[in-house]
Amino acid sequence: IQQAFVAPSILSADFAHLADEAAAVAGSDWLHVDVMDNHYVPNLTLGLPVVKSLKAATGIPLDCHLMIENPQRWAVGYAEAGAVNVSFHAETTDDPIAIAKDLRAAGSMAGLAIDRDTAVEPYLSLLSYFDTVLIMTIKAGFGGQAFMPELLAKVRTIRQAIDLDDLSIRLEVDGGINADTIQAAAEAGADTFVAGSAVFGAADPAEAVRRLRALAIG
Ligand code: DX5
Ligand code: ZN
Repeated sequence: IQQAFVAPSILSADFAHLADEAAAVAGSDWLHVDVMDNHYVPNLTLGLPVVKSLKAATGIPLDCHLMIENPQRWAVGYAEAGAVNVSFHAETTDDPIAIAKDLRAAGSMAGLAIDRDTAVEPYLSLLSYFDTVLIMTIKAGFGGQAFMPELLAKVRTIRQAIDLDDLSIRLEVDGGINADTIQAAAEAGADTFVAGSAVFGAADPAEAVRRLRALAIG
């Protein structure tokens, strides 16, 4: 397992002060940016212009999580905007391999996101095209939902496949990650932990990141 990464999700931050919010978690490994289009999920957040501005405003590597339809149209733009990783949902495309290739060609990592109701087995043979796999531990769409421990079975399955083929893939969990749940996710094999409300809802967001990382390392 790779070194544990904590990625605060700005979905729980103050959107009118994103640069300040990023500065408040300056020690983070990645900054998680949830892009929602009100079609794939019933919520609307931000898009490319905001990501471009964020890129200029912070040195934290941007981890863009696209919860949008038609990712083949949009994903590469986020890579070109300088995101370190761009994850799109398996549920939103018939050709995940093509998007993954385009993302790598554009200079970012390619991420496959798997929502609550989607099985991982059909994607196991595609893993070598990806640099990250994001397993939702809630249903995608909103921050502040309760962690669903039963979804960790998918994390275990992906971890096994990564280790079996010695793949270099970050295994990310997203949804309901906090001080009470992060250790279970780490034990299941996750190495990258998205946390929104647990970080930006804390009195000291930087301290919350450090605490989560320490708990993940165990
Ligand atoms: C929800 C987003 C998450 C969200 C997590 O669809 O993908 O990144 O910000 O928020 P918490 O950590 O509060 O569950
Ligand atoms: Zn997310």
